[in-house]
Amino acid sequence: MSRKNLMSPSILSGDFWRLGEQITELENADVEWLHIDVMDGVFVDSISYGMPVIRSLRPRTSLVFDVHLMITEPERYIKFISDCGADYITFHYEATKNVQECIDAIKACGKKAGIAIKPDTPVSDIMPYVEQLDMVLVMTVYPGFGGQKLIPECFEKVRELRTFTESKGLTDINIQVDGGINTDNVTIALDAGANIIVAGSAVFKESITENINRFGEKLKQSAL
Ligand code: DX5
Ligand code: ZN
Repeated sequence: MSRKNLMSPSILSGDFWRLGEQITELENADVEWLHIDVMDGVFVDSISYGMPVIRSLRPRTSLVFDVHLMITEPERYIKFISDCGADYITFHYEATKNVQECIDAIKACGKKAGIAIKPDTPVSDIMPYVEQLDMVLVMTVYPGFGGQKLIPECFEKVRELRTFTESKGLTDINIQVDGGINTDNVTIALDAGANIIVAGSAVFKESITENINRFGEKLKQSAL
């Protein structure tokens, strides 16, 4: 089994004046992934950043770029996001009528494909696609902003999804959780079957290195 428990810190909570420095600090703390939230002000209320930011970070770091698209009709942007240097491209099931087309477009770019679901979208909606995916993102808050409180009922969906993927023999698929994750609740997420942990505010507030180390301890304990 090649699945690993990993952190994917969300730069949405970063300090954009010092973003380069903060990414270097993450790398020095042995982080392997970087979560990049792209918001369009339509699928979610807020607007974040997009292609130019991804493009300018790409040559500066070898972190895996885990791009979370919170945009309507993501099929319009998959190729551009890929060309900017994304490694994983995750789109929202609720944002498109063309789920299969989106998966195919990501794969055609040679990238890893993920589908994200909001807290009120049942896991059963995406089951027909799971075998083709590299990752499923189970949102643990309603997407749109960092710093929200986690909705604990979402962990049940993680459990349901991991049970389903195991029953299909899909042992390598990543299950990601995103929203309100901190060192107090991360073990519940891991125990439910999540292995990629997104955290924004819990990583970027105060010391990044200390926060990553605290998360690292929990991830290690759960892997035992
Ligand atoms: C929210 C984003 C998250 C956000 C998480 O819609 O998808 O990635 O940055 O931030 P925290 O960890 O602060 O909830
Ligand atoms: Zn996200």
